[in-house]
Amino acid sequence: MNAKEILDKYCPNALCREVLERHGHAIYAMIEEICDKHDLKPDFSFLQRASLLHDIGCVRVRSPRMGCYGSLPYISHGVEGAKIMRELGDEACARVCECHIGAGLSREDIESENIALPPEDYLPQSLEEQLICYADNFYSKNPLQLEVRAQWQEIEEEARAWGPRAQSRLQALHEKFRL
Ligand SMILES: [Fe+2]
Repeated sequence: MNAKEILDKYCPNALCREVLERHGHAIYAMIEEICDKHDLKPDFSFLQRASLLHDIGCVRVRSPRMGCYGSLPYISHGVEGAKIMRELGDEACARVCECHIGAGLSREDIESENIALPPEDYLPQSLEEQLICYADNFYSKNPLQLEVRAQWQEIEEEARAWGPRAQSRLQALHEKFRL
């Protein structure tokens, strides 16, 4: 299935479908800018697909403002998305789903900050994983602000909740990809 067919199949309503598609386009557009500026040559067709699908796990969490009425907490959307994409046989997209929270989370971060996720390493490694992870920080899924790019200072502030190691990983991504 292509990305839009997967959104059609899994999104419970038009609001959720619209949020995921517009959010995906916003992220992909930023990634194109980053790659242009830093002369990077990632797999753009994979990035287009993964931008649209990295948040597919939202369909299983509770986030009424984006039309998601599942039972799980929002933080679970990465690992849940990975389950969906593995069921569909797409390991590469599954990796993007589970590694895109903040600047990625390690087992150590999860244990020391008491983050409600199975304690494993969810760290973006490939260029494509890192690009989606970085760009995703700049865009919310608030339906009224989907195309509004956040300021780096706001993102740094929010990253404090993830603990010092995750913060320094985010800083490292910023050094690599900043616009
Ligand atoms: Fe996202």
